[in-house]
Amino acid sequence: MDKIRLMKKIVKILAIAMAAILVILIIAFIGHVVKINNYNMLEREITSDSTTTEAMVDIHPRGGVTDSWEKENTGLGFKLNAKIYELVVTNNSQTLMDDWKLRINIHDDCYLNNGWCGKFEIHQFDEEKGEQVQTIDLRNYDVSEITINYTMGGQDLLIPLTEGDYIIYLPDGSGVAGEVPIKGSADFSGSVVCGIIIYNKLGSIDLSDYVFNYNLHLTYWEGSIGRFFTVSFPAWALLMIVLGVIFLMTVQFEERFIIQGKILEEVLGVTCSLADSKDYYSKEHSKRCANYSRLIAEKLGMDKNDCDTVYYAALLHNIGNYYVPEQILRKNGKLTTEEYNQVKTHTTKGAELLKELQHIPHADEAALYHHERYDGTGYPTGKKGEEIPLVARIVAVADAFDAMSIDRPYRKKFMREQIREEFIKNRGTQFDPTIVGVFLDIMGELDL
Ligand SMILES: [Fe+2]
Repeated sequence: MDKIRLMKKIVKILAIAMAAILVILIIAFIGHVVKINNYNMLEREITSDSTTTEAMVDIHPRGGVTDSWEKENTGLGFKLNAKIYELVVTNNSQTLMDDWKLRINIHDDCYLNNGWCGKFEIHQFDEEKGEQVQTIDLRNYDVSEITINYTMGGQDLLIPLTEGDYIIYLPDGSGVAGEVPIKGSADFSGSVVCGIIIYNKLGSIDLSDYVFNYNLHLTYWEGSIGRFFTVSFPAWALLMIVLGVIFLMTVQFEERFIIQGKILEEVLGVTCSLADSKDYYSKEHSKRCANYSRLIAEKLGMDKNDCDTVYYAALLHNIGNYYVPEQILRKNGKLTTEEYNQVKTHTTKGAELLKELQHIPHADEAALYHHERYDGTGYPTGKKGEEIPLVARIVAVADAFDAMSIDRPYRKKFMREQIREEFIKNRGTQFDPTIVGVFLDIMGELDL
């Protein structure tokens, strides 16, 4: 039972510790969530003058003969040359680049003709109308809806741009073109290559002045801290399940243990009642004696197991009465020497029966020695003092108290003060003086 209590105590301490760990985990996770949200919401920016290693932009002419050509039918009165420029955006951040836009500042006269996949937010500065802005999908446009300055060179749309104008490339976010998001990892730098076609007289233009805005995105479960939470929450839940199973098993074991203890007590109660039933006046004597003995043992500071042992031993101490004829046990008059000798045998016969009990140690000692006297004048062996086992000295006091507390055919029960005087008078002769001292304290608390 002590082990079960210890186990319950350990489970309880572990449950408290696990609850504390959960609180710490939740607080840490909330902090982590706030940090990740701030990371994700941060609008980042690099320019052609300020760079970072987490993201890169590279704008360069595409090489090869077919990537540039002349255009005669411009409608402008002069010939233009076209060139394809690649816009390479690279994500080295090891996280997800989930949004970005690229502003390209124009320094030379030119015409924007086409662009891959995404849309262009075009900012034109007109001397009369001021800044003109329109977002156009250059691959799929309706000329009638274009509000900014433009001209048509044959089938080609030509949007004039001059010093101070700028275009913002907005990548295709539909997922079809795969321009956003851009995935990056520890061993993989994600990148996309977009493109625009620019016309001008030279067939070449400086596009190196840009502003790149982007957002990075982490999930709560990425990174070393995210992975820690990925593992720690399920691990916590698993430990709680294990702890719960152990607790349930402990409770079930405890219930079974309690039931078995009750069965044992009931069987022992019935057994000792067999002996008590032979004497009408001593019915329930053994149970009362066992209760008093346990109180003495507890007052002496014995541990729970020893108190149980004393209780069971006291419950069985008169089991030998079963062998003594009823007419002797119930006799009202004085016993003959022969009859008294037969009564005395209940100690030895009881001990003989009880010595087989391996799990109720000292039960046989209680039966054999509970009529010994502290001064050595008792029976059956004449042991004295502390030669008499402690359990028997305890039972002797409890036995005498119960005998004095009930009416007998030949006398009335003793009053409380008389009992006290009897114990004091026989302290050190019949009874162990220490146990008498303890019991006198207990008597004051007994509800008789
Ligand atoms: Fe007895």
